[in-house]
Amino acid sequence: MAKITIDGKTIEVADGTTILQAARMIGPDVAPPTMCYYSKLKTSGGYCRTCLVEVSKGSEKDPRPMPKLVASCRTTVMDGMEVKNNSSEKVTDARKGVVEFLLLNHPLDCPVCDQAGECHLQDLSYEHGSAKTRTDFERRNFEKINIGNYIQLHMNRCILCYRCVKVADQITDGRVHGVINRGDHAEISTYIENAIENDFSGNVIDVCPVGALTDKTFRFKSRVWFTKPENAHRDCPTCSGKVVVWKKGDDILRVTGRKDQWGEVEEFICNTCRFETKKTSDWTIEGPSPINNHSVISANHYEVFEKPQELTINQIRPLAIDQNND
Ligand code: SF4
Ligand code: FES
Repeated sequence: MAKITIDGKTIEVADGTTILQAARMIGPDVAPPTMCYYSKLKTSGGYCRTCLVEVSKGSEKDPRPMPKLVASCRTTVMDGMEVKNNSSEKVTDARKGVVEFLLLNHPLDCPVCDQAGECHLQDLSYEHGSAKTRTDFERRNFEKINIGNYIQLHMNRCILCYRCVKVADQITDGRVHGVINRGDHAEISTYIENAIENDFSGNVIDVCPVGALTDKTFRFKSRVWFTKPENAHRDCPTCSGKVVVWKKGDDILRVTGRKDQWGEVEEFICNTCRFETKKTSDWTIEGPSPINNHSVISANHYEVFEKPQELTINQIRPLAIDQNND
């Protein structure tokens, strides 16, 4: 076990736990934001630098501070470690820089983007971004790509977090896709189209933190804040059948996985539940879904997550296991 203090709050965690996991166990007040880490996907994290923190004391044995900010999703705790997240000016500054970097090529599409209202980049920009841009060069421009009948890839909005690549790699059969090219030319390879034959390919939409991968059965049907998210379930032979149905009146406009307070799906759902089961009679409605109070859709009428959902021991995946899988 290791004792770690984050923004003045101390917790004891199992060895192998990352700083981010420890922070999430303490609660949302100290948990750094994440754009690429996803607890349900192996080897995720380490790409976006959103989760940077300052380690002001390395450990009990070696109390020297770490010379640079570290990615909390990729750094394991040491006994006696002290970490500053929101209490560090360096972190606030660096995070602002990261947001600016993520927005370098991201179009200002929010008024027409289906992800608006539940976009992690939008939330991050409001919380940590600057109101002005310092660049005036043209952003990258890609053609939209249809990934089968149900999913659209809008590469202009992609922040290269690799989550969809990992979903297609880990949840669907065979590795037939990836990020091609590097630097400014990097893009999600269209080979991802091959993953469409798989029952679970629709999950790339749920893990995408921005509006780069959207559900074609829902595109432009409604702004998300005009819909009512309700937990529902059905007997499904392929997945757990536990979903959120997004309703307008009595019509179900879209079906997604259920998300936890970190914006991550609790369980991946199959394409039949997501794309082909849109009649109210298909579902047993359980009641309103809890909504992250980050989101504009929490405005006035929905229950928010009340207290931190603690990670169970099974959700704490020692980093060493991840690295072996790389
Ligand atoms: S398409 Fe979305 S999930 Fe995939 S790498 Fe880009 S931002 Fe991440
Ligand atoms: S969440 Fe840690 S680097 Fe992206």
